[in-house]
Amino acid sequence: MPPLSYHHLFEHGSDPNSPPLLLLHGTGGDEHDLLPLGRALSPGSALLSPRGNVSERGAPRFFARLGEGRFDPAEVTQRTHELADFITAATTRHGLDCRQLIAVGFSNGANIAATLLQLRPESLAGAVLLRAMVVLDQPAAAGSLAGKRVLLASGTGDPIVPGDHPARLAALLRAGGATVTLQSTAASHGLAAADIAAAKIFLADR
Ligand code: MLT
Repeated sequence: MPPLSYHHLFEHGSDPNSPPLLLLHGTGGDEHDLLPLGRALSPGSALLSPRGNVSERGAPRFFARLGEGRFDPAEVTQRTHELADFITAATTRHGLDCRQLIAVGFSNGANIAATLLQLRPESLAGAVLLRAMVVLDQPAAAGSLAGKRVLLASGTGDPIVPGDHPARLAALLRAGGATVTLQSTAASHGLAAADIAAAKIFLADR
């Protein structure tokens, strides 16, 4: 079989009722980073964990950054389609149902999960976006996210995500019909216990 386009890890699930998770790490992370989080959030879920294919001075990411919070929309769009095509190939290869696939993304990984929802909504059933910002300032197409659920967890002391971005991103996704839950925690860019608790409840509530 030909290699898939992203280096990735796959763990089989043990519970067919638990949704498969797509784990998307932050800048400088890799395919190992979010496995413990995925196991803790939804024991029994299959886990698909790619490594970002863009290098920022050696730090893996899912799309390039021109500066803090500055992106090239054309490059982000191209990377989003690359990841969506990987998801199609990898879910077929590993026997997963992408209509059930939930992304759990942190930081840069949350940002590409959001652009997947905006540009390739068929790739995901929903998403847990941990510390996401607006990267592509364009609403999801009307109806494209109907029936999909998103948890958007932000930190009130986050120095990277501007304060108005969680609500703006929620509006862009709601334009497509997504049900978006905003969770705001007194935390920085790093995850806090309240984020984990909210994500667990979100994933269990199906
Ligand atoms: C990004 O570049 O996606 C965001 O700034 C988050 C980060 O990676 O720090």
